[in-house]
Order: sequence, then C-alpha cells, then structure tokens
Amino acid sequence: MRDETAATGGSLFGTGPNGIFRRTVPKPEAQGDRRMLRVLGLPQLTMIGVGAIIGAGIFSLAGAVARDVAGPAVLVSFLIAGAASLCAAFAYAEFAGMVPRAGSSYTYAAAVLGEVVGWIIGWDLLLEYTAIVATVSIGMSGYAGFLLDAIGVDLPAWMLGAPGTGEGHRVDLIAMLICLGVAWLLNRGTKTSAKVDVTLTVVKIAVVLLVVVVGLSQVDFGNLTPFAPFGWGGSVTGAATVFFAVFGYDALSTAAEESVEARKLMPKAMVWSLAISMVLYVGACIVLTGMVPYHEVNPDSGFSSAFASVGMSGVATVIAVGAILGIVTVSFSFMMGASRLWYALSRDGLMPKWFGELHPVRRVPHRATWILGIVSAVLAGLLPVQEAAELTNIGVLFAFVLVCAAIVVLRYRRPDLPRSFRCPGMPVVPVLGVLFSAWLMSFLAGETWLRFAGWLVVGLLVYGLYSYRNTRRVMPGGSVDLSALDEEKQ
Ligand code: ALA
Repeated sequence: MRDETAATGGSLFGTGPNGIFRRTVPKPEAQGDRRMLRVLGLPQLTMIGVGAIIGAGIFSLAGAVARDVAGPAVLVSFLIAGAASLCAAFAYAEFAGMVPRAGSSYTYAAAVLGEVVGWIIGWDLLLEYTAIVATVSIGMSGYAGFLLDAIGVDLPAWMLGAPGTGEGHRVDLIAMLICLGVAWLLNRGTKTSAKVDVTLTVVKIAVVLLVVVVGLSQVDFGNLTPFAPFGWGGSVTGAATVFFAVFGYDALSTAAEESVEARKLMPKAMVWSLAISMVLYVGACIVLTGMVPYHEVNPDSGFSSAFASVGMSGVATVIAVGAILGIVTVSFSFMMGASRLWYALSRDGLMPKWFGELHPVRRVPHRATWILGIVSAVLAGLLPVQEAAELTNIGVLFAFVLVCAAIVVLRYRRPDLPRSFRCPGMPVVPVLGVLFSAWLMSFLAGETWLRFAGWLVVGLLVYGLYSYRNTRRVMPGGSVDLSALDEEKQ
C-alpha cells in the first residue's frame, strides 16, 4: 500500500520516510487485532450529525444575537453562517468519501497534506472538542438550575457556577456531573450510546418542531418589521456568533470506522444533517422574533420565555426540558468525536498507544474517554461560559480553512483518486469556505489567538520530542498511495 519510490528521500521537510510531510493513512487492522464495530447506518449517522449540530447555538445564542446584534434578521445571520458551513461540509464530505477513517480532519490532513499538518489539526481539535463539551455543559447547567429552581429545589450557591460568575459561586457542579455522565455513557459501548443519542436527538427535533409548529400560529408579523433594525451589517456580525450553531457534522466524521459503508454513507449523512438543521433553524428564528419584539427576547432562555409570554407556560417547560436533552446530545457527539480522534492519534503513533487502547468487550477507547470526561469536567466546573466558548471557535474555523484548502489541492494534484462524493462548484465553493472561515477568525480576540498559539507550540514540542520518532516505528515507510485505498473493503 505504501509507495516506496516516494520513500527514498531523507529530507526532514520532504515526503519520504524521514520527512514530516510524508502522507499517512493507516490500515486500522495494522495496529492490532481489535477494531471498532461497524454498527452505524445512514439514519444513525445523520442523527449523530443533527445531534452535534443543533444545540446551544439555536437554544441560547439565537436569542442573544436577535436582541443585541441583528433583530429579526438573525435569520439572515443563520443563513450566512449556514452557507459558509455548507462550503466546508462539502469539502468534509469529499474527504470522508475518500479517506473513511476515524479521526476526522486529522486523518484527512495527514493523508493529503502530510503527517505534521495532520498532527497540528488533530492536536487543535482535541482542545476544541473538549472545550465544546465544557461549554455546552455549562449552558445546560444554567437551564437545569432554572428548572430546579422552578420546582422549588434550592441548591447552595457554591455549586451553581464557576468562580466570578455569581455571588458565592465556587464551582459549576451540575456541568461537571454532565461531563462525567456523558463519559460514562460513551463507555457503555457505541451501540448503547448511539441508541441513547438517537433517542435524545429525536426528542430534540420534536421539541424544535413543536416550537415551529405551535409558534407559527402565535407569530405577530408586525414584530418582524423592521426586519434589520441594526442594518445588514448586524446580520453579518451575528453570523460570526451563530456560526457556533452550524458546525457539528465534522465530529460525525470521527465515527467513520464505526459506520457501515463509510465511504458512501458519511458524505450523505454530513450534508443531510446540516440541511435538516438549517430548515429547523429558519422556522425557529421566525418564531423567536415573530412571537416577541426582538428587543424583548430573553437571551438566556429565548424560546421558553417567548412561549411563557403568550401564556403557554406548559409548552415553555417542555421546551426547557427539550433544550437540556438536546444540548446533552451535543456533548455526546463531541466527546465521542474527541475520544475517536484520540484513538486515531494513539493508533497512528502520534500519542502513546496506552491512551487509545480499546476496551476488550465494548471496543471503545475507554481511557481516552474518561480522561476527556475529567478534563472537560474541570473546564466546565471552573471556567465562565464565555471563556470556554472562546476556545472552541478558533479551532473549528482553523480546521475548516485547512480542510477546504486541502480539498482543492487534492482535486488538482490527484484528480484520478476514486471519490464517492465530489464537492460541487470546484474550486469556488472550497475557496469560499477558506475565505469565509478566515474572515470569521478575524473577529476573535487577541487573547484567544494567544491561547491557541500556546496550545499549538506545546503540540509541536510533543511532535518533535515523541511523535516524530514513534510514528516511524508504528508506520514505517514513505508517503502512502491514496489510490490503493480503493481496494480496501469498507
Ligand atoms: N453546533 C453546536 C451547538 O450549537 C456546537 O451547540
């Protein structure tokens, strides 16, 4: 499978056996006799995608953006963010149909741009996914606290939030327990956890449909004018924020090795899950800003408050519960994504094998999952939501830039490779994906850039001191021939 003619170069910056840019695509069975079970079909994969996409973005951020930045034109913000994300989704889908391996954009980048680029992306996403789990758990804990309060449970202040987020707050205990609970559930095995995830995602879709169907009858179209009270610039700025709502299918790609017919189904599941989410978002935005004037939208619990304001408090409670369950599925998908990514990094020799070893019975990377559960719990317990959220956006956008760029490079360098899905509108669509993601990154604070840079420096040290040598032991040889992948049975 390896192209040994390309393996002659000894240059450190080449693609030969010693080069940090050698292209790697591991055969999963080459690193041991334990493989993950292929149990996920198109409905489950699409559900995992929707489960990861719809979450805190629509339930929390839409209201805040409508009120402060965009007004009813928050709908346009979602459409702009969705269009940008769709460009990246097409690029991800083409990769997923070509390199159906666990590890998401890490695997894609390693196969196309070289080992060190793959490592940088993998290291970046490890931070990213962990921070997302922490962020959404904090958001969920806010809703849970609200509901507990509503039924008269009075919790002590010390456990209600991170230091500095309120009087007497020491730690966000509910958020911590959510992170650990998700890790426990994931370690029950992919089939069990996928079943729970699919159930919760169905509940979430039902709740959003409830919002749209019942809400549309309550819309006062007078509230939708003026449509863009902050000007169209407000919708564009809002798009940078609600971007959080439109990614998630990238986490789905980390489950490639647990998918039946991964090469065919992964691209479909990615595009379907984004399309379903966008349709629901459009309806939900119209309802949110049509039921109450945009300046009266509650930024913390927008939908529940809107229904409560028209006297539908029963529906408001159902929505609050649904929002909590819905956000659980986001934590689930991203922790699953992070653990599968870690599995891939360990399997390929970039991190010690111990971390990625599969549980003998349940065949899941149990150690990585528990470590991620504990680290995300610490972040969720101690960080304010904004700080945890800031850690997420930069890495997702960075990965989008690399994946969109890589798909263009590969299309022109290796047009011959078999592709079960082809990104349409080449090269305009992926180039737009690069430009849009880079533009959104420019909105992020200097501090976020510094943290991100610090994390990458640590990653490069790990690569130089450990991974570089170890990957050559685990996967000796030069650059892999991608076309050989076609001969493998998926
Ligand atoms: N797209 C996910 C959400 O909105 C991260 O929660």
